[in-house]
Amino acid sequence: MSFPTKRLRRLRISEKMRDLVQETRLSPKDFICPVFVQEDLKERVKVESMTEIERLPLEDINGEVQTIIDLGIPAIMLFGIPTQKDEAGTSAFDDNGIVQKAASQIREKFGDKIVIMADVCLCQFTSTGHCGIISGDKIDNDISLDTLSKIAISLAKSGVDTVSPSAMMDGQVSAIRKALDEKGFTDVSIMSHSAKHRSNFYAPFRDAAECAPKFGDRKTYQVPYTNAREAMMEIETDIEEGVDIVMIKPALSYLDIISETRKKFNVPVAAYSVSGEYALVKAASQLGYVNEDNITSEILTSIKRAGADMIVTYFAKSAARFLQKS
Ligand code: PBG
Repeated sequence: MSFPTKRLRRLRISEKMRDLVQETRLSPKDFICPVFVQEDLKERVKVESMTEIERLPLEDINGEVQTIIDLGIPAIMLFGIPTQKDEAGTSAFDDNGIVQKAASQIREKFGDKIVIMADVCLCQFTSTGHCGIISGDKIDNDISLDTLSKIAISLAKSGVDTVSPSAMMDGQVSAIRKALDEKGFTDVSIMSHSAKHRSNFYAPFRDAAECAPKFGDRKTYQVPYTNAREAMMEIETDIEEGVDIVMIKPALSYLDIISETRKKFNVPVAAYSVSGEYALVKAASQLGYVNEDNITSEILTSIKRAGADMIVTYFAKSAARFLQKS
């Protein structure tokens, strides 16, 4: 008889033993829950491509936030869908804009019981559907920085804790940091969509947020999914510019970038498990091909195992529910 030199099965012998040696533990505290708020909406609207995700009218926001708090989730990420869109994205930096109204209402009701994060981008607010301002036939980086800064200030005034630029304009973190500091918002943090890839996984979100580009694509600003070193340079640049939390997006196809970021830098790392990742799981589970909760647990755990400290996920509420039960 031959004996194996090492018996790794010893520590898998019982549930309790497996518990003891478990390396990665998922918790509702890891999650940031996206919330879509739409101006002039009378009742909730289901997002066709994202089962169970809805756009909410302002009146329903506080109820939704209460549910999120009760599930033990520490943060929300606000996305707004305005009624008015123009080339300058004016409704994005209106102090009475839909996201600003939602944030101030949440802050007033819940104080510091929830971290309020808000997306800083233009594509929902521009008639072009692009994340920057167009001049001529180009997306003008430096003019866009002024607008992104105005959005960040307006959101800071409305009471958000964290602004989350997702436009992928060069210098967006330093421009926003400077603008916030000059207005006295030194405590408002920045979680940048640092390595945001030009991904096919965003399609359902564009349905949810009505922000598909009206012409062209986002290839001149988002990182190609072929380029890991370029993604790392984006992250490094954001850190040099004073970002508080870096984010990698999407998550599941980019675990290598998450892992390398974790190893290389000491900043908190967020991962955004995007709409397409959600939709794939939902579709397969509706067909009965996979078990939704089990596969969600495995996906979110692997994102955390790769090195993410926090995960923006449309599964935040459902995962918090099964984690509370387990
Ligand atoms: C807008 C934005 C997008 C997402 C978040 N913010 C879409 C895009 O860049 O086209 C995608 C999120 C998701 O798919 O869940 N800048």
